[in-house]
Amino acid sequence: MKERVRSEVLRKKIMSAEKASRFIQDGMTVGTSGFTPAGYPKAVPLALAKRAKEGERLKINLITGASVGEELDGELAKAGVVERRYPYQTNGDMRNKINSGDVKFSDIHLSHMPRWIKYGFFGNIDVAVIEAVALNEDGSIVPSTSIGCSNALVEKAEKVIIEINTSQPIDLEGIHDVYDIENPPHTKPIPLTKVEEKIGVPYIKCPIEKIAAVVVTDIKDSTRDVAPIDEDSKIMAQHIVDFLVKESKEGRLPEKLLPLQSGVGSVANAILGGLKETKFEDLEIYSEVLQDSVFDLMDAGKIKFASGTSLTISPNRLEDFYKNLHKYRRNIILRPEEISNNPEIIRRLGVIAMNTAIEFDIYGNVNSTNISGSRMMNGIGGSGDFARNAYLSIFMTKSTAKGGDISSIVPFVKHVDHTEHDVHVVVTEQGLADLRGLSPRERVEKIIENCVHPKFKEHLRNYVKSAEKNCKYKHTPHDFNEAFKN
Ligand code: COA
Repeated sequence: MKERVRSEVLRKKIMSAEKASRFIQDGMTVGTSGFTPAGYPKAVPLALAKRAKEGERLKINLITGASVGEELDGELAKAGVVERRYPYQTNGDMRNKINSGDVKFSDIHLSHMPRWIKYGFFGNIDVAVIEAVALNEDGSIVPSTSIGCSNALVEKAEKVIIEINTSQPIDLEGIHDVYDIENPPHTKPIPLTKVEEKIGVPYIKCPIEKIAAVVVTDIKDSTRDVAPIDEDSKIMAQHIVDFLVKESKEGRLPEKLLPLQSGVGSVANAILGGLKETKFEDLEIYSEVLQDSVFDLMDAGKIKFASGTSLTISPNRLEDFYKNLHKYRRNIILRPEEISNNPEIIRRLGVIAMNTAIEFDIYGNVNSTNISGSRMMNGIGGSGDFARNAYLSIFMTKSTAKGGDISSIVPFVKHVDHTEHDVHVVVTEQGLADLRGLSPRERVEKIIENCVHPKFKEHLRNYVKSAEKNCKYKHTPHDFNEAFKN
């Protein structure tokens, strides 16, 4: 344990997860490490859930970097421990509790989270629970597979509990670059001008006396398998690749493109995979999540460098990833989410953002979060941080949902996450619509002709006709009686 817990003072604080969990009491606000489920604490949340299941009254407000695994979101949701949840989740049980109204969920841009923690917008952070691969002699923390908002949580928390996870290789040490931003009026420009630049330190600073407990565990990150790439995703990937090639040929993108951001999930994974067959080389990634496809592209010599805030490697790729960590570590950096998702940096680097939508409308507004306008899926995540500030903001979705019964392109989205102003290009398996510089009525035409499934084209054309006839104003004509009919 000396290799992992380097201070004798801290080795004396090693205790059981059950005992450490006692620092968390009813009514507290607890922040944890973790991002798309990587690098989140497991043993202490399981102990908390057990206490609640045994009858103890225990309700907490839970803050994380982004989505976390079953041991945290799933178990705490099932045990009824969570009163409030910020800022993003993907767990089925947590989602059900949110949609039944039992958990108060606030869906927040990920770049805002660390800032809001530091501004005190969530009140006091009573306890931070952080997964680490090691603790330095001075108490500073070497994170594991993600950073998320751990640095902000550690700074603001009254007490810190560390989970040393021995399933996470010590060789992860050195891939992190933690740079802290001061609050206004002392905020300075962030000195990051290239994807591969390091501007901070490879650990999270923490006064040693803040660490109340150290728990040792070996429970692995419960990352998900990436679904095999289906035909529609392959076609969408091809549309995007063709578009990027054209933009590069016509001089609107450099030959080596600009840093790429790719959203979460299988479609996003497929889009990056599509770059394998191109002539692009030495690409860069400036994203949140580094998924399997990033490492496949590195192996294929397509990606030169990747910066993110979490490493989400699927279970069947993990062994190979760890085996080759010595090779990958030269080409990756994990940063706090206030840097990976920072508007200043995204705009400066000229990031090409590619995110998935649930649906978009004929004018280009995007719904990424609420199915049928009211059923929360996951949350906005970082999609808004990237879309709003990107050099190019691309949204993709299959043209139909629910086995082809529903069109993913609708007259008016039932919930808006990204307005028409932050959406430059939309893509379905039917085709791609480049909306840059078009008036709303020009966009309608492009979207219906290029992206809508043939089965729904007539319906949308009729909607547009009726909107143009019945609406007094011809800039963005709508017929609201019709728009929300089904
Ligand atoms: N109408 C109704 N339901 C729809 C729909 C539509 N147009 N499109 C999708 N759905 C439903 C699916 O049927 C599925 O429902 P189910 O869970 O009951 O089966 C659900 O929405 C998810 O659809 P799926 O195709 O599996 O989504 P995905 O895994 O590709 O994820 C998002 C899509 C939008 C949910 C996901 O990308 C997301 O959470 N995005 C927001 C955050 C983000 O972009 N982060 C990245 C920033 S780095």
